[in-house]
Amino acid sequence: MKFADPFWLMDLLKGEEYFTKEELAMYDGTRKKELYLSVLGKVYDVSKGRQYYGPGESYHGFVGKDASKAFVTGDFSTGGLSDDVNTLHSSELEGLLHWVELYEKNYPYRGKLIGRFYKSNGSPTKYLEKIHERLAEGKQSEEIQKDLERRFPPCNLEWSAEKGKIVWCSNKSGGITRDWVGVPRKFFLNSGREFRCACIQPGSDVKHEYGYFVEYMDCPPDSDKCYLRYDED
Ligand code: HEM
Repeated sequence: MKFADPFWLMDLLKGEEYFTKEELAMYDGTRKKELYLSVLGKVYDVSKGRQYYGPGESYHGFVGKDASKAFVTGDFSTGGLSDDVNTLHSSELEGLLHWVELYEKNYPYRGKLIGRFYKSNGSPTKYLEKIHERLAEGKQSEEIQKDLERRFPPCNLEWSAEKGKIVWCSNKSGGITRDWVGVPRKFFLNSGREFRCACIQPGSDVKHEYGYFVEYMDCPPDSDKCYLRYDED
């Protein structure tokens, strides 16, 4: 999918500047008195948050640079204050977008940092395009997971000393309120060997594009409760 920055026109209208790494480093509250930081290559003036970002304060490590990775990892060491977000999981990248939102909402936007995320003409680099692709893929797989949970809700799980583990279905199991109860099945996703217990409507245990269902051993296929054998969890 081709990257399109939905804010590019707004950014342009806001009169953005382009900063080199060295120029941005000047805005650390000592060399220049303003405090600027960059997140995913976008530069914000955080001077009004001097109590957090000023020299000697808790979040001073973020200023004068792009330390996007540390917003997610909480690693404020010199090595941790990095702009290399490639190793982050797509859910962590989403968390990073919340920080961008915070800066967008609370602090004046100043422009773009030339480097990892933006080229010298202000257009996004391949690196940033890839990050946006990963975010879009992450969103899509989240939606698939949600849809699967709705169609095949998780079972309730109980344990007792005499009977061991029991999985059972109710019309609220997995927090999915519905007008059917269902029967427990092992639900294997095609993507892995792991399974989870899913409540399915009898007769719907056909193989589908994301996975397949297996009955619990020694459990009648139409029972809404199964006692697990020791090797089945
Ligand atoms: C991943 C770890 C963390 C990151 C990246 C982080 C980052 C930040 C940033 C950037 C701010 C300034 C927000 C602004 O400009 O409005 C902030 C504020 C603050 N943080 Fe953290 N923080 C982290 C963990 C923590 C933890 C563990 C605590 C508490 C033990 C904490 C307590 C606070 C407090 C009290 C504020 C001030 C909030 C306010 O008054 O609005 N932070 N944090």
